[in-house]
Amino acid sequence: MKFFIDTANLEEIKSAAQMGVLDGVTTNPSLAAKETTPYRELLGEICKVVSGPVSAEVLATDHDGMVREAEELAKIADNIVIKIPTILEGLKAIKTLTARRIATNATLVFSPTQAILVAKAGATYVSPFIGRLDDISTSGMDLVDQIVTIYHNYIFETQVLVASVRHPMHVVEAALIGADVVTMPYKVIGQLIKHPLTDIGLEKFISDFKKAQRG
Ligand code: G3P
Repeated sequence: MKFFIDTANLEEIKSAAQMGVLDGVTTNPSLAAKETTPYRELLGEICKVVSGPVSAEVLATDHDGMVREAEELAKIADNIVIKIPTILEGLKAIKTLTARRIATNATLVFSPTQAILVAKAGATYVSPFIGRLDDISTSGMDLVDQIVTIYHNYIFETQVLVASVRHPMHVVEAALIGADVVTMPYKVIGQLIKHPLTDIGLEKFISDFKKAQRG
């Protein structure tokens, strides 16, 4: 399973990269808006830190505009992946970009039908937004399960990238289903390693040793 970080914050990306578990980065316009550095400049900086896939999202909503923006973004670095919204024009753009050998990430996916279409169009990644489905009392993880099964049934090569992850159990459930990638906020990466028994055990090891040394 690959781990991507879902942020446009360079410090968080650098810190996650140091942990040795970072395989890639996903950004989106809302995440980019939180940063002061202009988006394209920021993407260039991110690509210097991470050699794995870095998703950069287009803002256009028509085929020609999306393709134009994608081609500009793809010039930033070889590992840029273009995030395309899952709408009809986006489907056409995925088809065009795939033919031009530009990697794509179909974003804002909320149904298995959308996932089938983007796979048929040749998307490199499909991003089901599970937290946002959970927010409206629908199981985001059921969608991941359906997509993984469908892609397996037809041997689609599109990788399932679980997005809108909010907590560690999302990561565990995605791993049990066999999703290819999980992208998560920095905070969730930190939560994955925390266990109170580890902290209690460590504290006791250190205090026992110190006590023995005093005696
Ligand atoms: O990867 C998509 C992600 O950025 C959306 O997350 O928490 O805004 O639903 P969220």
